[in-house]
Amino acid sequence: MSYQGIIETYKALLKIPDEMKAVTLLEGNTPLIPVPAIADQLGGDFDLRVKFEGLNPTGSFKDRGMTVAVSEAAHRGAKTVICASTGNTAASAAAYAARAGMRAIVIIPAGKVAAGKLAGAIAYGADVIQIDGSFDDALSLVVSISEKHPIALVNSLNPFRLEGQKSSAFEICDVLGDAPDWMALPVGNAGNITAYWMGYKQYHEVKGTSLPRILGVQAAGSAPLVLGHPVEKPETIATAIRIGRPARGEEALIAASESNGYIMAVTDDEILKAQKILASSGIWVEPASAAGLAGLVKEVNAGKLNLCGKKVVIICTGHGLKDPDVITGQFTKPQAVKAELTELERIILNG
Ligand code: F0G
Repeated sequence: MSYQGIIETYKALLKIPDEMKAVTLLEGNTPLIPVPAIADQLGGDFDLRVKFEGLNPTGSFKDRGMTVAVSEAAHRGAKTVICASTGNTAASAAAYAARAGMRAIVIIPAGKVAAGKLAGAIAYGADVIQIDGSFDDALSLVVSISEKHPIALVNSLNPFRLEGQKSSAFEICDVLGDAPDWMALPVGNAGNITAYWMGYKQYHEVKGTSLPRILGVQAAGSAPLVLGHPVEKPETIATAIRIGRPARGEEALIAASESNGYIMAVTDDEILKAQKILASSGIWVEPASAAGLAGLVKEVNAGKLNLCGKKVVIICTGHGLKDPDVITGQFTKPQAVKAELTELERIILNG
């Protein structure tokens, strides 16, 4: 039978209501792409792969969680969903709500959401509301609203989001035949790292696969889990992870330490370099999604990680198309030439 989405594929392993009908866009089943050129650059005799979550239907990993959260909300009879978002959750909630015939309300920090994400939320028909505040402010507001009104919260505080997102760990184990030795990923509100760890532990119990060590990576200007305290005014070019009070921060720290890994920070410059390295292997991701590789590069270069002979997976959470301005902003306008063969040859052949 053709692929049916993550709920159908993994329903025996998901804690979801019996008889829940799946609201799906056939999310998941994303490729685990070998990147030997990047492993070489890291000096390594090791197996490095990118789990390209930007290839989900709305361009980010959020679709794995949203299929379950929206299906469960619909199952309960909810007519409206709400979320706070740095952009990707908004686009995903909007798409799945549209699919379910529900209203989506998304609250975003004004001026801090990348163009492709905002466009997606609007295209899918969400009510988009910008606040003069941060993601953290937006999250506490939507929590209050969902407590007062019959509106379903679909941020990763909703446990069904994590049920869906853990499916990526299952897919990685299914493809590799086991868990990787190391897995690196960006950390923002900390739902995803929590979900991966849940998934790996569950597969370990049910299928006997091993457990990976997890490297969680935050942006230096938004690194509450590294600093050990909330960040009141988080800043980073990686707007997806511009979060100062992660809702699942404690669970993220537990995931990192139980897995014998850790959470670290990288600068915006290191993130942009990693984004270029990935693009040079044909994988264009948004800045936040490059944080996992940025962390790996930093630790390998500092001699803190020896990956020789290891299987390593980097999670690239969102597509580069989400945030085109970060790229176009780095370039002057493309050269303009007359539509003439000799003129074009002159430019091309002179390099
Ligand atoms: N990568 C991308 C592309 C994201 O959009 C996010 C989170 C993360 C990583 C971090 O994942 O929050 O589970 O630790 N984006 C949320 C949003 C906050 O609203 O779209 P996390």
